[in-house]
Amino acid sequence: MTKIIQISDPHIVIKGELAYGQVDTCTALKKCVDKIKRILPEIGPIDMIIVTGDLTDFGKKEEYSLFREIVEEVGIPYRAIPGNHDNKLTMQKAFADKDWMPINGPINWELDFYDLKLIALDTSITGMAHGNLESISLDFLRASLSTANGRPVLVATHHPPIITGLEKMDIQNLRDSAGLKEILSAHTGELKLICGHVHRNIVGQFGNKLCQIAPGVSHAVTMDLRIDAPNCLTKEPGSFLLHEIRDGILSHQILVDNYDGPFMFYPDSK
Ligand SMILES: [Fe+2]
Ligand SMILES: [Fe+2]
Repeated sequence: MTKIIQISDPHIVIKGELAYGQVDTCTALKKCVDKIKRILPEIGPIDMIIVTGDLTDFGKKEEYSLFREIVEEVGIPYRAIPGNHDNKLTMQKAFADKDWMPINGPINWELDFYDLKLIALDTSITGMAHGNLESISLDFLRASLSTANGRPVLVATHHPPIITGLEKMDIQNLRDSAGLKEILSAHTGELKLICGHVHRNIVGQFGNKLCQIAPGVSHAVTMDLRIDAPNCLTKEPGSFLLHEIRDGILSHQILVDNYDGPFMFYPDSK
């Protein structure tokens, strides 16, 4: 039974700095790594960690080095796709030793497990906050889906194509997503789209498939559905998702922070 951890939007900045001058994102990612290591006996083994974009805040070489230093401490294979805060060329160089990183072009990749197919698509556009999928990426998706052979499929992107009601994020979502919707909806097997970017756990419908946006591992975009809501972040507890195959794809949210428990419901019983 394949198990995939999805970490999203770590926004790593260089040592000693805070993202937006306010958030200690390095400590948040370290806490996430510690949490994964601590709960592995209960949830593992984990086959792969996927990081759905915004690995760094500014796409700097030093930020990628620090990201690797922190995330590789977990000892589980990982792969990543870029977000709008990443720099595609710098990211390609930073992970040039990884066999999943293309030498050039969009950072798309696919991975086959016996009971799951994982397809990751690069929605980043250099210099822009919103996302788009190049035709080469849609072709990559079509070809990858044709090899699913009845297995459930997870398709990962940074930008979600759905509208969330969080206005400041919706204006920078995945634009021109009709082609993606057509391809995903035409796929007859089980398929779930998993995204990042919004820093909140949100599930919605995209065509005839489910789309889940992962929570941020560090800060969140503030839950404010008003029109003209201020563009705010909130230091809510960070979390990540665990996608696993049972009867089909099942997704759990796991908080990074520590909390009391577990406690026996009935301590006197065995
Ligand atoms: Fe982000
Ligand atoms: Fe983003």
